[in-house]
Amino acid sequence: MSQGHAGGSSSARPPRFGVRLAGTGTCIPRTKVTNADLEKVMETTDEWITQRTGIKSRYIYKKELGETTAHFAIGAARAALADAGMTGADIDLVVVATMTTDAPTPSTSCIVSHAIGTHAAGGLDINGACSGFVYSLNVVHDMIKGGAYRNILLIGADRITQHVEFSTWGRGTSVLFGDGAGAIVVRATDDPSKGLLAQAMHCDGGGAKHLFIPASKEDFPNPADYEERKLNRVYMNGGAVFKFAVGTFSTLIEQTLEKAGLKAEDVDHYVCHQSNARILAAARERFGLPAEKLHVNIDHFGNTVAASIPLAFDEIRKAGRVHEGQKVMFLAFGAGLTWGSSLWQL
Ligand code: UT7
Repeated sequence: MSQGHAGGSSSARPPRFGVRLAGTGTCIPRTKVTNADLEKVMETTDEWITQRTGIKSRYIYKKELGETTAHFAIGAARAALADAGMTGADIDLVVVATMTTDAPTPSTSCIVSHAIGTHAAGGLDINGACSGFVYSLNVVHDMIKGGAYRNILLIGADRITQHVEFSTWGRGTSVLFGDGAGAIVVRATDDPSKGLLAQAMHCDGGGAKHLFIPASKEDFPNPADYEERKLNRVYMNGGAVFKFAVGTFSTLIEQTLEKAGLKAEDVDHYVCHQSNARILAAARERFGLPAEKLHVNIDHFGNTVAASIPLAFDEIRKAGRVHEGQKVMFLAFGAGLTWGSSLWQL
C-alpha cells in the first residue's frame, strides 16, 4: 500500500475540519447619551424616538478622549482574544468590517494587527456598511475552510456619529445611531460539523441614494436637494429604507432556511442588525419566534452599523444563552443597498 510521499503519485488529502466561533468582546464609548439628553439639544422627544425606533440611549464617541474607530476596534479585539484564551501572536489574519476608517489609509485592520501584537498577520478592511459584519463572517469562514488560515480575528467597528448632526436640522438621523465595536475570534476546529450551514450576500446599487454620505454637490441625485451642511452627513430616505428592510428580512430568513433545509423553529438564535425595533418585531411576528430567540438591544446601543451584530452576539453569549451545538443565524441589511445572512452550526 502506498504511504504517500513528496513527488509520489498519491498525495495526502487535507484532514476535514470545521470552523468555530471561539471568543467575543466589545468596546464602546465612555459617554452614554439618553433621549432626555437629546431633548436638550434638538426638537425631539423621548416619546417620538421610543415609539418610532425603540431606542432609549446610545453611546457616542468623544474625540478628546481619543475614541477613534481604531480605538474601539483594538478594545474589542483585546477583549475577544482574552475571552478565547489567546494572544495576538496566535492570529493569522485581522479582518475589520467598517465604513468609518479613521483615514483612507492605513486600514483599521493594520492598526489593530500592530496594536494586539500579531506576528505581521495580514489585515483586511471590508466595507459592507451595516451588512459588513455578516459579509465578513462569510468571507472569514470560507478562508478558514479553504485551509489557508486557522485563527482569524474579526471585528465590526464604526464611529458613525461623526456623520450626523446633533441639532434639530439633523434629528431625522442623529437620534438613530451610536458608536462602538464588537469582535469574534473565528478558528479552525477538528470537528467538521461546525461552521456555516448556509449564507447569502446581496447588494443593489440601484438603491444607493436611499442611504448614503454625500461627499460633493454632484452626489445629490436631485441638484435642488444640495446644501453645503448636508456634505459628509448621512442622507437617508427613512421610509424607503424601512420598507426595504422589512421585506428583505423576511425573504432573507426564508431563503437561508431553505438553503439549509431547516425550519424557522430549528434555529436557536437570530442575531440581527439593530436598526429599528419595529423592523425586528415585524420579522419576529412573521416567523412566530419567541422574544428570546431574536435579541433586541437597540434600546441601549442604537444603530451601531457594522458593530451591531457582534455587540448583540457578545451580549447573549455573556448572558450564558449560547451553547455548543446550537444554530445561530446572523442577518443584516444596510446602505448600498446591501443585505446578507450567515447561518452557523456552533
Ligand atoms: O442601518 C441603517 C438603516 N436605516 C434604517 O433602518 C432606518 C429605517 N427607517 C426608519 O426607521 C424610520 O423611517 C425613521 C425612524 C428613520 C423615521 O420614522 P418615520 O415614521 O418614517 O418618520 P418620518 O421620517 O416620516 O417623519 C415623521 C415626522 C416628520 O414631521 P412631519 O413632516 O410629519 O411634520 C419629521 O420631521 O417626524 C419628524 N421627525 C422627528 N420628530 C421628532 C423626524 N425626526 C424626528 C425626531 N424627533 N428625531
